[in-house]
Amino acid sequence: KRVAILISGGGSNMVRLVEDMGRDHPGRPVLVLSNRPEAAGLARARALGVATFAVDHRAHPGRESFEAELDRVLTAARPDVICLAGFMRILTSGFVRRWEGRMLNIHPSLLPKFPGLDTHARALEAGEAEHGCTVHEVTPELDAGPIRGQARLKVRPGDTPDSLAARVLELEHRLYPAVLRRVLAGETAPLDLRAPA
Ligand code: GRF
Repeated sequence: KRVAILISGGGSNMVRLVEDMGRDHPGRPVLVLSNRPEAAGLARARALGVATFAVDHRAHPGRESFEAELDRVLTAARPDVICLAGFMRILTSGFVRRWEGRMLNIHPSLLPKFPGLDTHARALEAGEAEHGCTVHEVTPELDAGPIRGQARLKVRPGDTPDSLAARVLELEHRLYPAVLRRVLAGETAPLDLRAPA
């Protein structure tokens, strides 16, 4: 199965997905695509032998033009599954509908809690005892598609948004590869991982 991964920055989730696909896996990475040509993840993808492309959203007058090029590049790669991994552009419903059912995203909260940005600060602010990350199918509504996996941890006294972000990112690196394997194997039951206490 052909897997395309969309990134915007460092691509740490992309690296884990690509590395996991190197071992006895139904999927193989055919393209890593970024909306930022300077994204550090592009060099990491190339170092792992994966083809890369950048569609600079700043080089386009508007969202439609950007998404038209994104769609052209993606279509050429013929992906069976698209993984958004630290991809920081909101995609219009028109674009999402074209790939609906074949696009996953990882979000750093236990959805439906805290969709959107600044999830760790908001979880602390809300006094949450548990926090974590979610892999969900991408639908037109932001961070709201069917959940395919979650990983959770206990918030610790003294946690800051940064310390929480770091521990959640570690969970993401475990959750996303596990969920991609299940999705490609056609399993639909959501995965529920727990961090060691
Ligand atoms: C991180 O904040 C992560 O929680 C979210 O995207 C950001 C960058 O991730 N999923 P990555 O290192 O580019 O995968």
